[in-house]
Amino acid sequence: MKLLSNYFKRAKQERWAIGHFNFSTEDQLKAFAEAAEESKSPVMVATSEGEAKFVGYKQAVVLVKSFGDTGLPIFLSADHHKSFESAKEAIDAGYDTVLIDASKLPYEENIALTKKVVDYAKSVNPDIAVEGELGYLKGESQIQETVEISADDYTKPEQAKDFVEKTGVDRLAIVFGNIHGIVVKQKERLDIGVLKTIVAAVPETILVLHGASGLLDADVREAIKNGISNVHVNTELRVAYMDALRKAVGKNPEQMTPYKVFADSFEVSKSLIKQKLELFGSVGKI
Ligand code: G3H
Ligand code: ZN
Repeated sequence: MKLLSNYFKRAKQERWAIGHFNFSTEDQLKAFAEAAEESKSPVMVATSEGEAKFVGYKQAVVLVKSFGDTGLPIFLSADHHKSFESAKEAIDAGYDTVLIDASKLPYEENIALTKKVVDYAKSVNPDIAVEGELGYLKGESQIQETVEISADDYTKPEQAKDFVEKTGVDRLAIVFGNIHGIVVKQKERLDIGVLKTIVAAVPETILVLHGASGLLDADVREAIKNGISNVHVNTELRVAYMDALRKAVGKNPEQMTPYKVFADSFEVSKSLIKQKLELFGSVGKI
């Protein structure tokens, strides 16, 4: 059986990262899966709480399984689930992994809720991986003018160590300059020095870079080189898909056949995922 944990072990050792891509339609998922298949790359596909409500938890599981049946290591992730109930819904439906995002709660409450999800997930199946989040990850997965961020928002290394020990999470989402979404009136830069101190504090933990949309490729490469093993992208995929869709509708407003209208957004999504897999160094790692 292909286990996500084995791919992460390799990625961490060999210094590459597994891409984590959000979808909310079947054609996006198919584009991601085809890109990963053709790139011979393991891949994580994900639904946030809102995306999962639209797709359906059980439906997402069945769809992803259908793409994995060919042998592709494709793993379904419940992204930024904010409550025990929603995390449980994903686990019960058969998701491979869940991010319990209690980072906006006071620290002790974050630990308690994260641990509750870890305990539940492992009681259902020890192979279900759980990610926790620490630090203030600002912004939304959309285009924004600016998002204020300061060193106070960053993950504190000593707290990361304590959090990992107390919760038993498999992966940790951290903040070191990253924000969700794309900012147009500001530069988004990572602080690799801060990343290094977090890696030193939790050397065994899989570290996750959220909010990779809008980052310089050079920053993403540097983060992977210095200990990031998982990279989340959403906004860039949304923008590419919707731009191509709007263009297709504008070009031929009379077109009434949905699969013809969606053909360009499918191809654009597929080629963007291929670029990201290349950037993350996961091509050929199946
Ligand atoms: O969990 C999802 C990602 O962190 C998405 O971030 O929208 O900035 O790519 P992004
Ligand atoms: Zn995120």
